[in-house]
Amino acid sequence: MNFKDPASYADLTQGKIRHILFRIDVDFSTHTLEIEATYQMREPVHGSLFLDSYKVDLKEARTNGRELKWELDEQDEILGARLHLKDLPGASSFTLTFKTSPEARALQWLHASQTAGGQHPFLFSQCQAIHARSIFPCQDTPSVRFTYSAEVDIPHGLVAAMAAEQIGVEDGTGHGSAAFRFRMPQPIPSYLFALAVGNLDFRELGPRTGVYAEPETIEAAAWEFAENEMKIVEAEKLLGPYLWGRYDLLVLPPSFPYGGMENPRLTFLTPTAILGTRGMLSLITHELAHAWTGNLVTNATWQDFWLNEGWTTYAETRITEVLEGKDSVDLHLAFNEKQLIAIMERVGMDSPLTRLKLPEERDADSFTTTIPYYKGCFFLRECEYAVGRERFDAFIQKYMNSFQFQSLTTEAFLDFLKAELPEVFEKVDVHKWIYETGLPEERHRPKSHLYDEVEKVLKEYEKGIRPGKEQIQDWHRYQILSFLQGLPHRLSVEDCKYFDEILELEKRNDVAFFSYFYVIAIASGYQEILPRVEAYVGKIGRMLYILPIVRTMIETDWSRQHIRPLFERVRDRHHQITVNAIEGLLKRANL
Ligand code: BES
Ligand code: ZN
Repeated sequence: MNFKDPASYADLTQGKIRHILFRIDVDFSTHTLEIEATYQMREPVHGSLFLDSYKVDLKEARTNGRELKWELDEQDEILGARLHLKDLPGASSFTLTFKTSPEARALQWLHASQTAGGQHPFLFSQCQAIHARSIFPCQDTPSVRFTYSAEVDIPHGLVAAMAAEQIGVEDGTGHGSAAFRFRMPQPIPSYLFALAVGNLDFRELGPRTGVYAEPETIEAAAWEFAENEMKIVEAEKLLGPYLWGRYDLLVLPPSFPYGGMENPRLTFLTPTAILGTRGMLSLITHELAHAWTGNLVTNATWQDFWLNEGWTTYAETRITEVLEGKDSVDLHLAFNEKQLIAIMERVGMDSPLTRLKLPEERDADSFTTTIPYYKGCFFLRECEYAVGRERFDAFIQKYMNSFQFQSLTTEAFLDFLKAELPEVFEKVDVHKWIYETGLPEERHRPKSHLYDEVEKVLKEYEKGIRPGKEQIQDWHRYQILSFLQGLPHRLSVEDCKYFDEILELEKRNDVAFFSYFYVIAIASGYQEILPRVEAYVGKIGRMLYILPIVRTMIETDWSRQHIRPLFERVRDRHHQITVNAIEGLLKRANL
């Protein structure tokens, strides 16, 4: 293994972390975590050890009862500061005592008013890609895996949840606090460390599955995700045994910056996934698939992100095929291809961001487009076509089995692919797919009659014939998405209003629909929409659905002047990851 992770200061020749024992005190009044962490190394460390850290206030470093010398380098805006532990005397364990910053990037501290119940504060973490370092100093690269145990002290009456196994709760350990204990026996990369604290209820869904949510949403959540157990069973048929024990969900407040985050044993989820229809199936299927593709077999660096997301999107389509049928997957794929081409056109067909192997970049968040998701999925489908489904399925199981609890680079994956399925390289231009920009012309194109139905309506609309409500009323969710995606960028204001009504956007209350629609409405000069856009951008944190709106507001003459003041009014309600992403777009436009 010869590679360097440009997003980390770690020098793995010094040694690797094997286990961390955390004692975490959660302080809602100062928005800080006070932490004592004891690190165990794989081998004794002689001399220096470099760790990643971001605005962590280190109080003390000790080993074997004596103090360690340390130095914090200058803070880099993106990577944070390198923590240099000095003169380690061949120690295989050391203890750090520190406090996180209220500006810790991985943490969002919510006021009671930002929760469903409105009575209690809430805290949640989001470490992917490089934010774990703002909670605890670590080798913050996905190529290092460690196990951990944790005791989390929180105010009495709240509940702590971690992406780990809960092994005990002691209520009222004095000072009105409660202690929750966890252990994570499977080795994880730092980006899968996760913690949440709030007024949480829990509901059992099946023998291995359950859901945490605020009492106000637990009922709806339990109904929406009742089928999770069955999904695991299907996923196991494709990917092999589920090795993490339980699979629970945690429904977060709406400012959560993603749709879902595949934290092991405990997927973190946007509340907007609760549609009341069990309709946002692909999101759960996606996060569940990550339990194998991503969590079990992990990208070694963020340049290899497609190994996580492309494989997961591929697995998602395979599981969807079993659960929803071929028509549904074909429709998803047709939509995904259009979406992929649209994003590639936005970043530029020859942008390095369109390669599967991404360029070396320190800011691992800046290249998280959905290109590796879709392009990776289409590449793996080409591999499947080349050898047939049966052989490819055997390959998948062997891949999972051979690399479980390991992290690998794209190159290591290609070596494995070459050894196992050499014919792929005869039939598919693997090098082109992985290392070149754009999308290879020579490929299988998705075919979907459900998608064709949508295209027909779009073509008629181009000729001036508007679809009637009855024509689209019974459409599949992805047909509506495909329709919105296929509409011209600019319509008449009157047509915007018409589609708003016949698509019943308010009634369906689907954030994805709103996102596509607001983009069109803004570009079309439908100025009355602004209050609705502000309410949406002020509430929903899921970047996939609010960044396109911000981009369109920047690009459109009438709305450009409104975006900065709008953003300032809502910024406090958002996660710092979201704030940074929006701030980046505004700065690039000199706003
Ligand atoms: N692991 C990602 C979320 C992520 C990616 C966090 C990069 C930080 C950096 C998660 O599995 C994901 O892909 N979520 C998507 C949903 C998916 C169905 C496309 C999202 O949040 O929108
Ligand atoms: Zn994902």
